[in-house]
Amino acid sequence: MLAGQIGWSPRLETVEGTIVFDGSLSPPLGLLKAPVRLEIEHGRITSISGGPQAEEFGAWLESFQDPNMFRLGHVCYGFNPGARLTGNILEDERVWGCTEWGIGYMSPIDVPPDGIKAASHCDGICLSSSVWLDGVQILDRGRVVGPGLEGLARAARGL
Ligand SMILES: [Fe+2]
Repeated sequence: MLAGQIGWSPRLETVEGTIVFDGSLSPPLGLLKAPVRLEIEHGRITSISGGPQAEEFGAWLESFQDPNMFRLGHVCYGFNPGARLTGNILEDERVWGCTEWGIGYMSPIDVPPDGIKAASHCDGICLSSSVWLDGVQILDRGRVVGPGLEGLARAARGL
């Protein structure tokens, strides 16, 4: 697999709030023309809003008739200095400073002990993310911040 991505699964039932994809969403959409907004309760998508692509995405999830297609499965951080947003999810999920949320199927290795049994899986990209870990900010709108991290980020990007 390509370098430049950190992937993990949180305690999925604790995920609450709003996710706004503004990069790409694959499948079924590829590059986004307008943001797709998800409301999340206890790790499940409860509503989807935005433009025509948001409607298409909601219909795609519904088409599986599988409630687990509305479950969040993982989150990733993108840190590949060469990755560009192209609509190819394998590159998009590595764009520097993005976060990615996975939805649907997850293997038992990724979400032990049983994984998430679902009909399919998709990934959405949030560009220029801000992230805090245990109260310490590590990303500010896509820029690496925090103790000891800024120098590492400059070196990784060849700056
Ligand atoms: Fe994924």
